[in-house]
Amino acid sequence: MSENLNLSHPNHLKIGGVDVLELVKNYQTPLYVMDETKIRKQCQTFMTSFKHKRVATEVIYASKAFLNIAMCELIQEEGLSLDVVSGGELFTAISAGFPVSKIFFHGNNKSIDELSLALEYQIKTIVLDNADELNRLSSIIKKDQKVRIMLRINPGIDAHTHEYIRTTKNDSKFGVSIFDPKTLFLIQSIHQHPSLEFVGFHSHIGSQIFEENSFKELAITNLKYIAHVYKQLGIETKELNLGGGFGAHYTKEDKPFVLESFLPQLLETIDLISKELDIKTPKILIEPGRAIVAEAGYTLYTISGTKETYGGKNFVFTDGSMADHLRTALYQAKYHATIGNRINDIVEKNYTVTGKACESGDIIIKEIMLPVPKENDILVVHSTGAYHYSMSSNYNRLLKPAVVFASNGKSKVVVKRETYLDLIRNDLRLGK
Ligand code: LLP
Repeated sequence: MSENLNLSHPNHLKIGGVDVLELVKNYQTPLYVMDETKIRKQCQTFMTSFKHKRVATEVIYASKAFLNIAMCELIQEEGLSLDVVSGGELFTAISAGFPVSKIFFHGNNKSIDELSLALEYQIKTIVLDNADELNRLSSIIKKDQKVRIMLRINPGIDAHTHEYIRTTKNDSKFGVSIFDPKTLFLIQSIHQHPSLEFVGFHSHIGSQIFEENSFKELAITNLKYIAHVYKQLGIETKELNLGGGFGAHYTKEDKPFVLESFLPQLLETIDLISKELDIKTPKILIEPGRAIVAEAGYTLYTISGTKETYGGKNFVFTDGSMADHLRTALYQAKYHATIGNRINDIVEKNYTVTGKACESGDIIIKEIMLPVPKENDILVVHSTGAYHYSMSSNYNRLLKPAVVFASNGKSKVVVKRETYLDLIRNDLRLGK
């Protein structure tokens, strides 16, 4: 841990109690900084609020939002389980020593290699997406092995969010539809398989959702399907995973759930509806990703200057790019930002924040009011903890930033900044 030099400057932003200039001095920019205390607090809010006296529950962190070895350690310490969707996420979790009994292996197109890895590591629960995956798993699982299986179902609910992050419309690529009669055969095949234990269903309606009703509708539709499956096949569903998708705050337009009241209410609804349907209330699982990490994250950039175009647009140039901040280009996502070394200065002008990538679409923030930026000012983009580091790339052979955890006035690198040597590590010569 690097010690804070105790710079307490009233016009400087602090993250986890550490002055941004201190962070820049120690680790350079662009830099991802995660307020570790905020992540832990969100974990604890989910763990304590997602409880009900009559309903068993489990909170799983969706690691796709932000994953590395330190994050696995944090999640384990906070008592959550872990959702992984690829061989790479699985390998990271295993390398961190995350308990295999608490790993859920998701993904909509798991390869034989990935499934073999999951079996080799004895991952307790695999979430199957479709019949092909069942065939693939059946072809490699040994007679003496036993795996818990959840089936990803698509309940056809249209969550109101960006088209690319909506997952349960009837033509979505994820899971099998509850309206498709073939789904019942699939459930039966899993149930009858000697090495597989059918434990229940998984569903996920999309991401960055703010409507409580979307989750209630999801729960009720799934419970009705559970009752239907019991009636048709006599198969009991022990567990129901409602996925993630709980929205986070990026700008003042976003109104996240009050988890402390929303989560117990959701469980109460589930308990009531299960009684009405005369089914045993299943254990309920959720898997938030964004809501755990988004607001804890900040990206720090050094401003090199501004440019007013002939057409009248005002650009701020940073040393970052869409390679470390993809969500604006991909989803037209909106962000709040501050000049971290001048937080009390009056905002004066509307700017478009851009970076170094050779694309007109290299936009970090499309429109933001800022004080007039000066060379070497530090631009801090807020709420970048989810799907930033995990979606970063080396486009234009730009280096991926380091990731730093900051808390209680101290900071620590958890992912090193890439070097030019990292870029060519896997390159091979033509060999002529
Ligand atoms: N469970 C499943 C099966 C998922 O597919 C996802 C996200 C989650 C849980 C976690 O969702 P969350 O709580 O983070 O919303 N790259 C996009 C988000 C893609 C989400 C994909 N699945 C973005 O940056 O907005």
